[in-house]
Amino acid sequence: MIIGKKIPDVTFHTRVRDESIDDPNPFRWQDMTTDDYFSNKRVVLFSLPGAFTPTCSTFQLPNFEKLYSEFRQLQIDAIYCLSVNDAFVMNAWSREQKLKNVILIPDGSGEFTRKMGMLVYKDNLGFGMRSWRYAAIINDKIVEKWFEEEGFSDNCNNDPYFVSSPQNILKNLQETKEKDGMH
Ligand code: BEZ
Repeated sequence: MIIGKKIPDVTFHTRVRDESIDDPNPFRWQDMTTDDYFSNKRVVLFSLPGAFTPTCSTFQLPNFEKLYSEFRQLQIDAIYCLSVNDAFVMNAWSREQKLKNVILIPDGSGEFTRKMGMLVYKDNLGFGMRSWRYAAIINDKIVEKWFEEEGFSDNCNNDPYFVSSPQNILKNLQETKEKDGMH
């Protein structure tokens, strides 16, 4: 449980489209820091084992995308999806999913995930090191709520997906709001 802890300061290496580049593939590197994504914002971060994997692509990511406006009504400024995949893979996944709301963060070398204590071996699937599935509400770089799937382990044979679902997190945020409103 890391509630109240500050998230690690790292640099993420993203690729962005830049029309000023005279090239049929006008993209360039853009380094983004933890501060760029997380300072002075209250966000949902969810982190998963891999871009394009079935549960992530069929349920978790598209449902966060669909429920974005409901999160916005609960004082969430942004929704970030992180994976230990490089910027090319994450951009291709964003295009394939036609994302307008959720922002994908490439943690290609796993530095953020390792410093969060969430890096696991997935050599049983030929994946190398990846993120255990979890989500968090992060307020100005401090973890406010933590939703980690059960059974954190290397080379896990199954892929638990329950507490980090958008529906569960929305329910939790709504319950907190109702409780706060009672005082
Ligand atoms: C998934 O369905 O999301 C998944 C499948 C295999 C490995 C990791 C995740």
